[in-house]
Amino acid sequence: MSFWKAASAAKALFIRHCYGCHNHNLVKGGIRILHHRLLVNVRKVVIPGRPDESELLQLLVLDSEGAMPPPPRPRLSEAEVRAIRQWIAEGASPFPPD
Ligand code: HEC
Repeated sequence: MSFWKAASAAKALFIRHCYGCHNHNLVKGGIRILHHRLLVNVRKVVIPGRPDESELLQLLVLDSEGAMPPPPRPRLSEAEVRAIRQWIAEGASPFPPD
């Protein structure tokens, strides 16, 4: 099912690009990147169905301070940003266990 695939792709990208600073032990900015309820319901940085209004997505393409991941980490590629956009657009379903 495609929503499952989108969540699984987003999870893999978050682990690769974000987890180093937003995991259970190191919680930069108060964000645990795989804590779905925190992202969607508490901090509301992901708005299901509304990628353009989702702060998390905006941070990936931001051209100034506050961009994620912060420099000198490499930005996400266009394809990677598209995958996260798609996950949000399809309703930002919870991350599969593995
Ligand atoms: C090198 C460490 C590092 C990495 C990697 C990183 N972040 Fe962050 N992140 C931070 C820090 C530090 C803050 C808090 C300070 C700030 O807002 O700039 C933060 C804050 C945030 C916030 C909260 C912004 C707010 O308005 O409060 C979000 C959302 C976020 N990061 C998402 C991500 C995502 C998504 C990725 C991966 C694509 C990522 N971060 C990768 C260090 C990192």
